[in-house]
Amino acid sequence: MTHLEAIAVDALTLEQAALELERLAADIARHDQHYHQDDAPQISDADFDTLKRRNLDIEMRFPELVRSDSPSGRVGYTPSEKFSKHSHSVPMLSLDNASSQDDVSDFVARIRRFLGLGTDVSIPISAEPKIDGLSASLRYEDGRLIVGATRGDGQVGETVTENLRTVRNIPQQLAGSDWPEIVEVRGEVYMAHEDFSALNARISDSGRQFANPRNAAAGSLRQLDARITAERSLKFFAYAWGEISEPVAESQMAMIGKFSDWGFAVNPLMQLCDSVEDLIEVYNHIEAQRAVLGYDIDGVVYKVDDLALQARLGFASRFPRWAIAHKFPAEQATTILQDIEIQVGRTGALTPVAKLHPVTVGGVVVSNATLHNGDYIAGIGANGEPIRDGRDLRIGDQVTVQRAGDVIPQIVDVDISARPETSEPFQFPTLCPVCGSHAVREVNAKTGKIDAVRRCTGGLICPAQAVEKLKHFVSRNALDIDGFGDKQAEAFYHDGLVTRPADIFTLQARDRRSLKRLKDREGWGATSARNLFEAIDARRAVDLNRFIFALGIRHVGEGTAKLLTRHYEDFEALRIAVKAASDENSDAWTDLVNIDGIGETVAQALLAFFCEPHNDEALDDLLQQVTPAPMEKTTGDSPVAGKTVVFTGALEKFSRDEAKAMAERLGAKVAGSVSKKTDLLVAGPGAGSKLKKARELEIDTIDEDGWLALIGK
Ligand code: IVH
Repeated sequence: MTHLEAIAVDALTLEQAALELERLAADIARHDQHYHQDDAPQISDADFDTLKRRNLDIEMRFPELVRSDSPSGRVGYTPSEKFSKHSHSVPMLSLDNASSQDDVSDFVARIRRFLGLGTDVSIPISAEPKIDGLSASLRYEDGRLIVGATRGDGQVGETVTENLRTVRNIPQQLAGSDWPEIVEVRGEVYMAHEDFSALNARISDSGRQFANPRNAAAGSLRQLDARITAERSLKFFAYAWGEISEPVAESQMAMIGKFSDWGFAVNPLMQLCDSVEDLIEVYNHIEAQRAVLGYDIDGVVYKVDDLALQARLGFASRFPRWAIAHKFPAEQATTILQDIEIQVGRTGALTPVAKLHPVTVGGVVVSNATLHNGDYIAGIGANGEPIRDGRDLRIGDQVTVQRAGDVIPQIVDVDISARPETSEPFQFPTLCPVCGSHAVREVNAKTGKIDAVRRCTGGLICPAQAVEKLKHFVSRNALDIDGFGDKQAEAFYHDGLVTRPADIFTLQARDRRSLKRLKDREGWGATSARNLFEAIDARRAVDLNRFIFALGIRHVGEGTAKLLTRHYEDFEALRIAVKAASDENSDAWTDLVNIDGIGETVAQALLAFFCEPHNDEALDDLLQQVTPAPMEKTTGDSPVAGKTVVFTGALEKFSRDEAKAMAERLGAKVAGSVSKKTDLLVAGPGAGSKLKKARELEIDTIDEDGWLALIGK
């Protein structure tokens, strides 16, 4: 007979597990005694940890077997490290939003356009509730749950396997036998209303309460001690998937059917629709059920059902093109506008923020709301049109606040009849409240219109801009330095320790020589200081696209940073090219504005940034510390990877957008016009001047079939 201790935790039967827990409790107690009381350990620390780990793993799998003399209970299980990171092999993306019926029609129209399908062809689309919890990815190998992780930033999440194992309707072992060798099942972890109320009642003595079920679910899943998670009654709905070793279905609905066969809970309100009208009908039906479902939902998700069409549609930068979330209308409440505060952002924009008398809107206490700009306060919209029927906002006003999902709360109305007689129109400042420089409304070079946003002209001398730039530099989608958040950026800036990004990387060296060490500062200790320095060091090598985004150049968001990375591949190449582009007649300028997705506004912003001598100097210093690495090419083996392709003529087999997305997925760059840098022209019927130019430049030219053959379709 095999010794029980040789059997993997996953393979233990209930009886075996009970015996193992009994043996482990005795063994651990004995070794504990040798160590603590006799000062004569008989096994290594590592072996002792292995015993404790095994004990805990068995307890996780069989929570009902936890013994009253459990060694984990006795010593209190607190792993010293926070959660380890989990890189998602397939990113976990979020969804684009629709807030009206028109948005839904646009979504379907966009899909038709992208796929080149007329209104005569029906496109089945599923509709299901959008669960208000947090998403998780569960990796099964050979039917067994191996790893469970949170979404994190979509690329990297936190490993919370043990915690997810305690969620009762997540199978440890997939049911049936028709599952693929590897499958990542994704869905939402949530807390039902009754469990939420019970939890808040249970912890009320501690003075702590969760604001809503989503916060409670997130707080419960991200516990270091999985036994706390186990007490929290979390639930899971499966609705999506990541990596899968072989296809198991041809449609979204069939896939959900498989999840159900494998033992997952799937949402019973999911339905297949054939038209926008159908979708809206299901939306209304689901909204009508909202109050009696027993768990929070915040909208309805629509997904193109045919997986082959999903694959063709693919992803735009952050969202799949084949799905959208139709949100329920925002919730509102009235309160008093107590003050208007002006914040200065990293690009110098002066943003007014409403300070409100705290009010609960849809379960969340709101005390701030965005006011966008001076025009917005005056009752003027982005295109000069009246908003709130032209009513302005004044301090002391009674206002209606609206909150929709995670969006920053907005003031949507004001009650003029309740306005105090002494109130006066709000005077928007013309000087930066932080550095005193003039704050001006620029004229947009392209449209000739005056910008609604007032900007501080202080640039590098404005402390507010500098702090915001630092915060942006370390933020999650930029350098993402663990333990270096807004609070630390402000404190370090305030103390003169870090005034620009390069300083972050010299912090440790300076700290060693300093009399006032970081570890001795309030709120810090030896461990947290060491962790921070390690987290900083871990970012000395960083993906180029993150680095470009982190610089905080105006108009350069994550998508644009990726476009630039793909095009220039190397930071120095980008820097040299942009400087060369300051001559508008240069090839460098043409090359820059020819990148699909980059227009003159972005190009001008890049020029302004790279041609500013102070920035140049700051960059040189930063590059002494940090090495940006080109984005990994996932599809580098395609014959078109790294090539510059131009599509022209009437494409008949796919739309232009689809062609572009296809090429980019394979690592090619798509340009709008033919130049010496073009490697390949794909010409549909009726191609004209671009084809002619390609012939003159002796550029390879193929038709649509040639293209499909080339990319192996
Ligand atoms: S599908 C690639 N379906 O909504 C698309 N998401 O805003 C994967 N969510 O991060 C998501 N219910 O946390 C999908 N039925 C549902 C959902 C759902 C809730 C959440 C999920 C996601 C977020 C996107």
